[in-house]
Amino acid sequence: MKGRSTYKHSSRLFLLILVGALALIGALILQPTPEDDPATITDKQLLEMRPLVRQTPPHSRADDCRECHRHNHDTWHASYHRTMTQLVTPATAVADFGNRRINMPGVNETFLLHRRKGQPWVTFDREITAFPINKLKRREFPLLLSTGSHHLQYFWAPSGGKRTMAQLPVVYLFEAKRWIPVNASFINPPDTSAHGTGSTWNESCVKCHATFPVIAPTGGFLEYDTTVAEFGIACESCHGPGQAHIQLHRDSSTDESRMVDPIVNPARLPPKLSAQVCGGCHSVYDQNSWQPHRPGEPFAQNRRTRTRASMLESINNARDHTSPAETEKATLELDNWFWPDGMSRVTGREYNNLTESACHTKGGMTCLHCHQMHQQKDDPRPVSEWANDQLRHQTSGDQSCLACHESTEYATIEHTHHTRESSGSRCNNCHMPHTSYGLLQAIRTHTITSPNAHVSKSTGRPTACNLCHLDRTLGWTADQLEKWYKQSKPTLDSPDYETSQVVRTLLEGDAAQRALTVWAISWEPATAAAGRTWSAPYAALLLKDPYPAVRFMAARSLRSLPGFAGFEYDFLQAADKLEIASEAALALWSTDTNRPTNAIPSLLLGPGGQLDQQRLNQHYARRNDREIVIAE
Ligand code: HEC
Ligand code: HEC
Ligand code: HEC
Ligand code: HEC
Ligand code: HEC
Ligand code: HEC
Ligand code: HEC
Ligand code: HEC
Repeated sequence: MKGRSTYKHSSRLFLLILVGALALIGALILQPTPEDDPATITDKQLLEMRPLVRQTPPHSRADDCRECHRHNHDTWHASYHRTMTQLVTPATAVADFGNRRINMPGVNETFLLHRRKGQPWVTFDREITAFPINKLKRREFPLLLSTGSHHLQYFWAPSGGKRTMAQLPVVYLFEAKRWIPVNASFINPPDTSAHGTGSTWNESCVKCHATFPVIAPTGGFLEYDTTVAEFGIACESCHGPGQAHIQLHRDSSTDESRMVDPIVNPARLPPKLSAQVCGGCHSVYDQNSWQPHRPGEPFAQNRRTRTRASMLESINNARDHTSPAETEKATLELDNWFWPDGMSRVTGREYNNLTESACHTKGGMTCLHCHQMHQQKDDPRPVSEWANDQLRHQTSGDQSCLACHESTEYATIEHTHHTRESSGSRCNNCHMPHTSYGLLQAIRTHTITSPNAHVSKSTGRPTACNLCHLDRTLGWTADQLEKWYKQSKPTLDSPDYETSQVVRTLLEGDAAQRALTVWAISWEPATAAAGRTWSAPYAALLLKDPYPAVRFMAARSLRSLPGFAGFEYDFLQAADKLEIASEAALALWSTDTNRPTNAIPSLLLGPGGQLDQQRLNQHYARRNDREIVIAE
């Protein structure tokens, strides 16, 4: 019996080896080499030309953790971290691939988005090599990888170069349930070689959107042989490699006391290292010699986070070998990242912001004072509500601050000067206002500061007070801050006392300032404090803004106002149509019976509530048209 069974096993083994060897030879033949004529690559081969999951020691998969940590697994499973990067399957491709013809300004090619056996494909109207780094000349490509699942979803096709993925030039916007050009999803000036289009997934996105990637450039032009431990942001991104931990707890024979458990719990790390677990991705840093950040370890030398000062220093150091024009351009480009005082104006850089706050440097505040990566079992909120921003429950709002700051000192009318129930007494409404931009929204800054009229005057960043008191001037705020907090007043000019700070910024600001302020006119606490019957003309004006992203946000704000819910408008229309829509919105507002009927000079409303066109034009003529590109 024994002998026979051994024989049987070895013959099976032989067969297995034979089949394995044949499969390997087959794969080697099928695997395209650079010498292949790209035009001959078959659909089948294309489907295989995507990054691979490679689970080598010390790595493990999220599924391996589930048997012992079911709740942690389930809450992670419900998070947007998990679905950040996905292999496209009929189930994960929720975007509209129902024979959707794409022919829109801002996209050079025309093409059809469709499905084959449920799987998304793109068919261009002509054979292209352009798509953008594509090495193939082809019409049809499968879409194999997606990025994002919350606000936007990008799609990637094999480019023909090893496992390099090229970007589909349109992106699906969940909120609007439609495709838009990739360059319209960023703050990008019109008619420039836009940020965001034409990149490969492998060169950059992979660094922060997957778990322990190995980028593996092949040496060929934009060609990579990328592998990842897992697509999306899985357990190991925050807990470190898990295989040894699993072995330790599975193998009852190991003497646990003698083995060190390598698993990392960010909640038990010192504040700096804890913040760096998240900062591995939620930060902006010099990208040279990038390596994945390992949770629990301090940032390597090459993870120098970028600040306005450090970027300025690099520009100055390079001054000797760059032309004055280039130096000036690079200096102006700092505005794409930072406000003039160095605060970030872009989302996704929360680590940089946190480390510039005294609460972190002196108090050890980490991301986990406010966020929770696994929803608690006793949290009554629906999981989808928690997953949106992953904020703590019990400690949301003021409680996250009162862990360190005395409630008897700060959660008081003496400090906030607003009644306890008022939105104007929530700590983060004054100390973390919405002055960052990203993903077609305004987002709370993660640098903790206080309202200050000097800073606002010198940076052009509206104060937290004005972002709620939309109808008030900077002068009004400066007066209050002097009266309430004994702050000195900056030197102000007469418009600072005459025109609402938000209205001024909306008319005179650069594209990113216009985006933030047009968003503010629809923010619930702000409309509760300052009303919503006066603001339609301002949203209407920005319906014809030169920047597509600003127009999109203007339309969203406009539709949130009474009477405009169904307002018809498409932010990608031609300029003459935008003009017509803008005028139609203004006309609709003029006939609104609820609009103000008295003069409100700070809001540029003259006698009878008529728009003071002359003052409006004066402000609008000062619009800051410097080029802004927000490279999120
Ligand atoms: C065979 C069971 C088992 C598996 C599989 C397992 N764990 Fe654990 N894990 C444990 C046990 C038991 C503890 C508690 C150890 C202790 O209290 O010292 C633990 C603790 C943890 C902790 C908390 C450590 C701390 O210091 O607070 C984390 C984080 C963790 N595991 C993550 C993971 C991840 C990630 C995976 C998958 C890669 C995983 N675990 C797979 C059994 C397991
Ligand atoms: C330095 C790290 C980093 C790099 C590199 C990076 N991202 Fe991100 N990305 C982030 C972070 C952090 C967020 C979350 C930001 C937030 O929610 O405000 C994010 C969010 C996004 C989102 C929103 C996801 C959703 O579900 O709505 C998209 C889309 C996105 N990134 C696309 C890209 C693309 C495309 C690339 C490559 C061209 C890229 N990112 C490169 C860190 C990065
Ligand atoms: C984005 C980062 C992140 C990811 C991804 C993540 N965790 Fe966690 N995990 C944390 C943090 C932070 C804590 C500390 C408590 C908290 O914030 O919820 C934690 C705590 C834990 C703990 C300790 C028990 C507890 O709830 O405090 C376990 C076990 C754990 N995680 C397992 C997992 C497993 C298993 C996965 C994947 C299926 C996973 N985690 C994915 C960040 C993460
Ligand atoms: C491997 C990179 C990576 C790590 C590590 C990481 N994140 Fe993220 N995080 C991302 C990306 C990318 C997104 C965008 C995902 C999305 O929103 O679809 C994101 C999204 C988020 C969101 C917004 C979720 C939403 O869509 O509303 C929060 C909050 C967040 N991360 C907090 C944290 C915290 C806190 C930590 C550390 C415990 C952490 N992240 C660790 C990359 C990372
Ligand atoms: C003092 C509390 C606090 C701390 C500390 C904090 N956050 Fe947040 N975070 C918030 C709040 C509140 C929001 C919701 C923002 C909003 O409504 O616009 C948020 C939103 C976010 C978002 C989603 C932005 C978006 O809407 O797309 C990300 C990503 C994020 N935080 C990451 C982090 C990371 C990473 C850290 C640590 C480096 C951190 N946060 C520290 C309070 C905090
Ligand atoms: C982990 C503890 C901790 C948490 C949580 C925390 N802080 Fe702080 N915060 C500190 C410490 C410590 C300082 C420095 C005090 C000093 O310099 O004397 C500080 C400073 C400040 C300052 C002065 C900043 C400056 O630059 O001068 C403000 C404002 C502030 N915190 C507000 C907040 C608010 C609002 C929250 C909640 C969103 C919060 N803090 C959460 C510990 C914390
Ligand atoms: C999140 C919104 C919000 C923020 C931020 C805010 N307030 Fe208020 N404020 C209100 C609301 C709402 C009221 C109405 C009365 C109440 O609820 O207390 C109010 C009332 C007032 C009043 C009395 C009524 C009036 O309009 O004259 C003054 C003065 C005032 N706020 C000044 C400020 C100053 C100064 C700041 C910044 C330091 C500020 N507020 C920040 C919402 C806000
Ligand atoms: C209406 C706006 C407003 C609200 C709401 C508010 N603060 Fe402040 N806070 C300020 C201003 C303005 C300053 C700056 C005072 C100065 O210039 O000295 C400040 C300063 C601080 C400081 C710095 C130290 C100090 O005493 O000057 C801390 C800490 C602080 N606030 C904590 C909080 C906490 C915690 C909450 C919520 C319970 C809160 N604040 C709510 C406006 C506000």
